[in-house]
Amino acid sequence: MNARGFILVSAAAAVAFAGVGGGGYFWSLAHERHWSGHPSLSLVTCNHCHLGNTDKLPWAKPHPKHASPAALAVSADGKRLYIALDELDEVVEADTASAQVLRRAKVPGGPFGLALDDAGERLYVACRQQDRVAVVDTRELKELASVDVGMAPVALALAKSPDGERLIVANSGSDDASVLSLSPLKEIVRPATGREPYALSVSDDGKLAFIVSRLAEREKPRTSGDTSGFPFIVPQTADPYHVMTPPASELTVLFTRSGRVFKRAPLDSAHLSESIASVPARGWMLAPLVKVRNLVPITQVANGWVMSAGFAISDLMGRVIQLPLDEANDYFADPSGIAVDAAGQRAYVASGGSDVISVVDLGRVAAWLVQADAATRQSAIEDLALSSQYVIARVPTGRNPRHVVLSPDGRKLFVSVRLEDKVLVLDTATLKPAGEIALDDGGGSDPIRRGERVFTKAAHTFQRQFSCRSCHPDAHVDGLAYDFDGDGIGDNLLDNRSLQGLAGTAPFKWNGKNLTLQIQCGPRFARVLMRTDAIPPDDLNDLVTYLMAQPPPRTIPFKRLGRPLTPSEDRGRKLFFATQRPEGTPIPRARQCQTCHRPPLFTNRLPSAVGTQGPRDSTDEFDTPHLLGIAASAPYLHDGRARTLEELWTTYQTNDLHGVSSYWSKHQLNDLIAYLKTL
Ligand code: HEC
Ligand code: HEC
Ligand code: HEC
Repeated sequence: MNARGFILVSAAAAVAFAGVGGGGYFWSLAHERHWSGHPSLSLVTCNHCHLGNTDKLPWAKPHPKHASPAALAVSADGKRLYIALDELDEVVEADTASAQVLRRAKVPGGPFGLALDDAGERLYVACRQQDRVAVVDTRELKELASVDVGMAPVALALAKSPDGERLIVANSGSDDASVLSLSPLKEIVRPATGREPYALSVSDDGKLAFIVSRLAEREKPRTSGDTSGFPFIVPQTADPYHVMTPPASELTVLFTRSGRVFKRAPLDSAHLSESIASVPARGWMLAPLVKVRNLVPITQVANGWVMSAGFAISDLMGRVIQLPLDEANDYFADPSGIAVDAAGQRAYVASGGSDVISVVDLGRVAAWLVQADAATRQSAIEDLALSSQYVIARVPTGRNPRHVVLSPDGRKLFVSVRLEDKVLVLDTATLKPAGEIALDDGGGSDPIRRGERVFTKAAHTFQRQFSCRSCHPDAHVDGLAYDFDGDGIGDNLLDNRSLQGLAGTAPFKWNGKNLTLQIQCGPRFARVLMRTDAIPPDDLNDLVTYLMAQPPPRTIPFKRLGRPLTPSEDRGRKLFFATQRPEGTPIPRARQCQTCHRPPLFTNRLPSAVGTQGPRDSTDEFDTPHLLGIAASAPYLHDGRARTLEELWTTYQTNDLHGVSSYWSKHQLNDLIAYLKTL
């Protein structure tokens, strides 16, 4: 039923109810029981099941777009700075001496990543929303060519070696990298990377590309004989305790010429690496990271035990050491961009949550490494006293610094101050501002923009340890389960929930106990997570406005948007809406997917029991999750026990409680999953 149809029907129904008086109440109850399959319902409104369509939801409406700077690129002569403005579909050229914008070019598709060739003639642009790389001619500042790559490309780098030239692209949406030849501009191969590859850098000789990923996999890639980690890991069984495995994200090392993977190095208990820089003078790659201890109870925030910022040093063989950026009582959350000068003297790391650039003296880091024994190096990331030996300054920026780049002579650092629409120019000798490139007014009049500032700000947590973004990058998931209420290790692990596509899905949390976002993000957050004062009411309202404006993630390739379902997806759709088995046995209403996951949001917003109670759960009823963009939020179920959608109906299906699946063949399961991936 569409919205108008429903209004008519409900108007008719209302008149009818008025006529029969109390009879209407009983009609409603019977009706709701019938269609939900629930014997008892409380607090159910008609639009739990009759939303009509999603057009009226805040995320479906147009909202203001800002000149939020993403990637930066400087020309080899240091005269020009290119700035990607993904929200405006523009690439801007600025003059570095005068800090003035010179020209703007339209580049459709959310330009986010940039790479400039040595001659400064071709600018390669990763267009995140349209799954393509655009080639911009810098003389005309005009798009010349375009090539399709994997989903949601966010970063790219040129590799020049005696073997030829390559362009390597990190596709954050399809978990792979596109390896392209330049003439002709063509994709050669698309090797798999870690989950959500987000940045890359090429070795000085052009032969290897190092790619870091934002999200961790729970099982780290293990070499035989590796017995580290928790003792009770039981992968590939129905035992939900495999969620107790500490996470690891992947540093993927590729041969640029062939695209073959040389190494997959784990970054243990670390994730959210958003940048990587080559340090040829030392034979290193440097990547910021968030050290995460999601398995300890969140009450440990008070002891600084949940999250801290650091960076990884990898040698060219992919051997990694992690070092801290934080201090024992002062944290610099959400390390994002990193830049290193040509001589390998200093690294500059932007902390998106704390609005500072940490300046790292790499000579001191090297000196420390030389004298530390292997065991000390391995545990260095835990020692927050260490950073004082090599972090030589913390320089304030504006709100949410993300991408950074140095001028070729190393004298100027350019910083994308994302939520203030400007690029800050720092003089690296004095570490003082040397100007700024204003792109717009900062967007302070837009509540969504103000809400994003609250969302990304670490100032709301104890000692500024983390922000909302530390667990919900891009308001999405980080793929981990956290222990919010328990006292012991792993007492009450709850899988992170995406905040994209949240509007209209109340109540919130896996237990469905929070009726509004104000409650979820206000008092609860203050009590459980921040260990400090609650977010002030005005900020909280902006925060909620921001959350409601986040659309569900896109999980199908740009070129396929608006196209009909494939035959397999369509067979899957029929299974999803099936009311009987092929031979005619009816599927009880309460066990049909569509009853609980009712379109258009694919939830009826009611609690249900589907046989997923774990040994530590106090109930078998959980909030029915919406399924928009579900392909992008693995792992699944309230404790994250299902690593893939398939596992929901293989490893973790019990007695046809979660939909009736026992009659499906393997192919039918594949069809159903193919359909779910289109939602
Ligand atoms: C638990 C889910 C649920 C709730 C809550 C619910 N409905 Fe329905 N309703 C359905 C389903 C399913 C149908 C079948 C048609 C469809 O799929 O839209 C339906 C159909 C209807 C129809 C068409 C006639 C019929 O009975 O088939 C009317 C009128 C209606 N609902 C009114 C209401 C009103 C008014 C309320 C609030 C008091 C309400 N519904 C609450 C699930 C629900
Ligand atoms: C330490 C990691 C972490 C941080 C920090 C964090 N969240 Fe969450 N968030 C989670 C987890 C895990 C869940 C699922 C918990 C549950 O359902 O009980 C969740 C659930 C939510 C939900 C409910 C979503 C739904 O569909 O039910 C909202 C809303 C939310 N978070 C918003 C925020 C906001 C706003 C902030 C910052 C003020 C924040 N979160 C900070 C981990 C985090
Ligand atoms: C009785 C209501 C009900 C029915 C019927 C049902 N589901 Fe669910 N579904 C749920 C609940 C409740 C959860 C969350 C369970 C948990 O977290 O332990 C869930 C979880 C899921 C998830 C994982 C969501 C996430 O974010 O982790 C997917 C996907 C899903 N269901 C798809 C389906 C499909 C496909 C069918 C039909 C084969 C189906 N469901 C039938 C209630 C239902």
